[in-house]
Amino acid sequence: MLRAGLLWLSEQPRVFRFVRHNGVARRFAARFVAGETVESAVAALRDLNAAGLSATLDLLGESVSRPEEARQARDSYLDLLDRIRAAGADANVSVKLTQMGLDFDEALCLANIESIVDRARAHGSFVRVDMESSAYTERTLRLFTDRLLPTFGRDHVGVVLQSYLRRTAGDTETMIGLGARVRLCKGAYQEPAEVAFPEKRDVDASFVACLERLLIKGHYPGIATHDEAIITHARAFAQRNGIARDRFEFQMLYGVRRDLQTALRRDGYRVRVYVPFGTHWYPYLMRRLAERPANMAFIVGNILRESVRRT
Ligand code: FDA
Repeated sequence: MLRAGLLWLSEQPRVFRFVRHNGVARRFAARFVAGETVESAVAALRDLNAAGLSATLDLLGESVSRPEEARQARDSYLDLLDRIRAAGADANVSVKLTQMGLDFDEALCLANIESIVDRARAHGSFVRVDMESSAYTERTLRLFTDRLLPTFGRDHVGVVLQSYLRRTAGDTETMIGLGARVRLCKGAYQEPAEVAFPEKRDVDASFVACLERLLIKGHYPGIATHDEAIITHARAFAQRNGIARDRFEFQMLYGVRRDLQTALRRDGYRVRVYVPFGTHWYPYLMRRLAERPANMAFIVGNILRESVRRT
């Protein structure tokens, strides 16, 4: 119930306008978001790289409704790729297609994402197309398999699959067949039971099954989870099957399980941290809250402390 409520709130722009300038919300955001500017993101990147961690930068923003907004987001990504290169940083970028205009103009969306991947290719870099709610799964995969992958190749563009979707076992085989680079995650959106497993144990079992297929047959999969049991399983499975540590990477979110990120790195695994930044942090933050309602304690604690100070 709480998860569903938080995910519903994540889609309410009016609430965002309300919390945008709220001190507690901004402090909470600072834990999961590397600031509102590109400079703050590049600074976070430097710290991560210094600790031996790779990164993927995500300019926050989704579901834009006007062509100018989509073009502006595209230009910000082009600038971001130039800055990553200028800084000599170990980072690529993650992009949401609704930020590129998928909701209102698929041709514009394609043109925008193509220019970003083209710039990434010129810099020897990589673009990950994030996966959004199931309303976009089919279109995202179609644009990826029919247009982006054949044009730019698997070293410059990859996609995301979500283990909570019932279709994902099949999509995993398709991506393996195409030699595509896949990030596997559990999935962060509110979905009906017809399309997504409602029970966590089924989502986890699906993750493990897809993970094993990707480790054995896939091309450099990204294992995107903070779930220690699954990570332990992935390590043991890779070892048992003679899969070297440089044939896959673990991926985690900025500010989540930093202890685990550094421990994996210390053990010789590749770890990439997903670093979101920008002013549109509200939906992202609400999805993080929904994943771990215990984070609410942080917010409530701060509100209480503030109100005690005021009285
Ligand atoms: P699970 O939710 O079962 O959590 C396992 C443990 O991790 C928890 O017990 C807790 O210890 C810790 N944890 C998890 N979330 C936390 C949080 N917010 N705060 C504190 N601790 C937390 N989703 C999507 O739909 N499309 C996408 O493109 C992506 N991309 C993506 C990239 C990367 C690098 C990651 C790590 C994740 C995504 N996701 C995503 C989000 C993903 O689908 C999922 O919602 C979160 O990763 C949480 O799920 P876990 O796999 O961590 O497991």
